[in-house]
Amino acid sequence: MRQIKCLITAGATREYFDPVRFISNPSTGKMGIAIAKACKKSGWETTLVLGAVSAPLPDGIEIVSAISAEDMLRETSARFPACDILIMTAAVSDMRPKVKSAQKVKKENLEMLVEFEQTPDILKTLSKSKNRQILIGFAAETNDIASYAKKKLEEKNLDAIAANNVSRKDAGFASDFNEISLIFRNGETINLERGTKDELAQKLVKILSEKFFS
Ligand code: C5P
Repeated sequence: MRQIKCLITAGATREYFDPVRFISNPSTGKMGIAIAKACKKSGWETTLVLGAVSAPLPDGIEIVSAISAEDMLRETSARFPACDILIMTAAVSDMRPKVKSAQKVKKENLEMLVEFEQTPDILKTLSKSKNRQILIGFAAETNDIASYAKKKLEEKNLDAIAANNVSRKDAGFASDFNEISLIFRNGETINLERGTKDELAQKLVKILSEKFFS
């Protein structure tokens, strides 16, 4: 069989409102980087579109940098037609300042910053042009995890969604550990018990390989 081409996004986007300040989130990129390593280990041709990360970068994997949601949409869209599977672990900022000032905003003028707009939804956008590609999303939730994740699976037209509980202190954001429920379109749910992000990434890639490429 030909080599599977995998596109993974990871890390946080930064939405600048002036040249030196931005809004973002505490994603470290650890889960996505672990998945990229696991994909590579499985023999998949792997490209990683990376926002801001605070984790060691993997060796031997093609890395494309993306700062804002708009950058990530552009870099991911450009590579989407040629890929077999897109795994979106990136914590894309849902909102961005409507206006980006060309100069550093002075403290006295802070009230001019209140207007926000939504960023483009990368998965939703790409799912409209999907043909053979498998789309996997991530859902970081603090409550009603399964029901919110299923809603996102439908709304973004995904093949599966990996849901995790980010309210836990011992797993999720910034932790080296995670716990994932992988939910498929037919409602089938596979629970991956708490483990290191590397362990979970390997289990996840094995499952995706068996489900979609065997
Ligand atoms: O809607 P929410 O941000 O919770 O959805 C999470 C999933 O959607 C993740 O896979 C994330 O990478 C993706 N996403 C996206 N574009 C956005 C926001 C999130 O593709 N603007």
